Amino acid sequence: MSEVLRNTLVKLQALIGLIGLAALTPLLILAAILSRLIAKLCRCPKPKSIEGEVAVVTGAGHGLGRAISLELAKKGCHIAAVDINLSGAENTVKQIQETYNVRAKAYKANVTNHGELTELNNKVVADLGPVTVLINNAGVMLHRNILNPDPADVQLMIDVNLTSHFWTKMVFLPPMKALRKGFIVTISSLAGVFPLPYSTAYTTSKAGTMAHMRALRMELALEKQKNIHVTTVLPTFLRTNDEITQMSNTIGIEEIYPLISGEEVAHRVVEGMLRGEHEITLPDLASVLYRLLFLLPIDWQMRMTLLLTGSRFKEFTKMRS
Ligand SMILES: NC(=O)c1ccc[n+]([C@@H]2O[C@H](COP(=O)([O-])OP(=O)(O)OC[C@H]3O[C@@H](n4cnc5c(N)ncnc54)[C@H](O)[C@@H]3O)[C@@H](O)[C@H]2O)c1
Repeated sequence: MSEVLRNTLVKLQALIGLIGLAALTPLLILAAILSRLIAKLCRCPKPKSIEGEVAVVTGAGHGLGRAISLELAKKGCHIAAVDINLSGAENTVKQIQETYNVRAKAYKANVTNHGELTELNNKVVADLGPVTVLINNAGVMLHRNILNPDPADVQLMIDVNLTSHFWTKMVFLPPMKALRKGFIVTISSLAGVFPLPYSTAYTTSKAGTMAHMRALRMELALEKQKNIHVTTVLPTFLRTNDEITQMSNTIGIEEIYPLISGEEVAHRVVEGMLRGEHEITLPDLASVLYRLLFLLPIDWQMRMTLLLTGSRFKEFTKMRS
């Protein structure tokens, strides 16, 4: 068979596949909505217990990381509070110990450094036991010069928000695979699906983490590791970080959707994690909105987004340049 004929047949096969999928789509959407409704109504699957398990929470010294650490401790989980800022992590541990009857310890580690994470795992295993819950929360959003960002800031956002998740996966996943159980939660952002102009490194890093976790979930399914759950969280702007709260106020984000507290996100994240949810958007409605937007041609997606937010970002650039 000639190459031209073979290529034509392959293209024809792809076209037939596409037509078949388009014809099936309404049925698949209906089935997905029904299964979601049933799951919501009967609150199934039942949440798993993490009592007595050990969690590593990165960026646990402040904001959302601290709130998630407290929420996990409430479920009876022992906590390794990890942060580049040791005093923040120690403060989190103090709050846990004042309220919950679990073991908690603060560790100083930089998530961008694979060697430090390997050492961290050794210490946590010796102090608390094998890690079966990993919360990839540490993240940075820098806006020092948004029109002409410093290359070091771009590099740092990619390293902390994206590359570090490869290192934590390499260090903490193999023992989970050996135990055939675990939870990996990755804090991405709605910026991963609704790109933020003038925050391209942040947007890219958050879209990257979502793609990374989607691929990892498929790998675990292929390896029949059905008791290792991967949850990606895509929140809107939060009230956890003063600088980001100030930026959100500047661009009027509150007029589109109110900022969410770290405690509210932490509660939703831990509940979702224990039920094995794959992706959690906050607010929930955003998951429908971004899927609808993705059905539009790319130029219309951009027009719609700019219509809603364009003037706010213009204001932001004026104030930051
Ligand atoms: N704040 C928001 O509006 C918002 C919105 C969506 C997603 N998020 C994401 O949620 C996560 C937490 O955000 P937050 O608002 O609580 O941030 P935060 O700045 O309050 O806390 C982040 C913590 O991470 C630590 N950290 C930073 N770099 C580190 C490194 N290299 N190694 C170890 N620890 C490091 C910091 O010391 C800090 O304690 C981040 O991934 C962020 O991108 C935040």
